[in-house]
Amino acid sequence: MKILLFGKGGQVGWELQRSLAPLGELVALDSHSTELCGDFSNPDGVAATVRQVAPDVIVNAAAHTAVDKAESEPEFARTLNALAVGAIAQEAEKLGAWMAHYSTDYVFDGSGTIPWTEQSPTGPLSVYGKTKLEGEQLLQQRCSRHLIFRTSWVYAARGGNFAKTMLRLAAERDALTVIDDQMGAPTGAELLADVTALALRQVRARGADGQGLSGLYHLAAAGETSWHGYARFVIDFAQSKGVALKATGDAVRPVPSSAFKTVAPRPGNSRMDTRKLQAAFGVRLPHWQAGVTRMLTETLERNT
Ligand SMILES: NC(=O)c1ccc[n+]([C@@H]2O[C@H](COP(=O)([O-])OP(=O)(O)OC[C@H]3O[C@@H](n4cnc5c(N)ncnc54)[C@H](OP(=O)(O)O)[C@@H]3O)[C@@H](O)[C@H]2O)c1
Repeated sequence: MKILLFGKGGQVGWELQRSLAPLGELVALDSHSTELCGDFSNPDGVAATVRQVAPDVIVNAAAHTAVDKAESEPEFARTLNALAVGAIAQEAEKLGAWMAHYSTDYVFDGSGTIPWTEQSPTGPLSVYGKTKLEGEQLLQQRCSRHLIFRTSWVYAARGGNFAKTMLRLAAERDALTVIDDQMGAPTGAELLADVTALALRQVRARGADGQGLSGLYHLAAAGETSWHGYARFVIDFAQSKGVALKATGDAVRPVPSSAFKTVAPRPGNSRMDTRKLQAAFGVRLPHWQAGVTRMLTETLERNT
């Protein structure tokens, strides 16, 4: 099987390089790739790449993910998150290839407290959310063999992340304030990459049409928390491992979103109902604390 991966250097793309490698021949690109175009600001260029590589499977981890910046460059965000995705999808269909792609809880308006299902009405609050939704729609319209994984609150051990920021702030300050009215599940890039590889193996094993597995799936770790609960978990864990911090878990104060104004509004309810994915692919999604504990353990070991 020949796999074409776009966005190889991002949180999810980096983990996909690992999880997809055993499945077949992997061609992995980023926006700076020279021999083949991997730049999503050039939809014709990435479409030409698909024609040239002629893969059996395309996995797209590239996106305009700067949520606040997208508000001031909506056309650029649309080109990356929607038009380039649509151009790739069109070529994938001509080849009979599968296309795996990621979307976001930001396609919802964040109202209520019930976990969103794949049938829930969308209502993006931001340019990022609108352009990601258009990307989903173009992929669904143009490529009959697709896997769209909507996820939330993605973190990775590599590079910066929320947990590392909390640890730094807790080392510098006596107290922290963290938002407690946005709910979701921190989801590891590792988990996303592993489930993607597993799902692709299953669709390919079921023959050309994947026997009805093509579709949209919610994919996030189990359980739920607020950013405040997440921060407390991180700080309590670090302290239990003997990390010297000025701020204890009790010194993390909950505040509403209104205390931290952002250019783009964030959804309050990012809970995702993942039962469709679990039933379709026979997977079990671990609790968010399991993945965060693992990432923290690696981070703390690296720093000692
Ligand atoms: N992060 C989250 O919390 C979150 C939540 C829900 C859904 N998602 C979705 O999950 C997917 C993966 O996100 P992530 O967290 O891995 O994001 P990320 O770490 O920001 O990675 C995004 C990737 O897109 C690349 N990219 C940016 N501009 C590009 C361009 N013009 N052409 C080609 N590539 C370009 C980036 O490359 P450079 O770094 O070289 O620019 C980077 O490799 C995305 O579809 C995102 O919408 C993310």
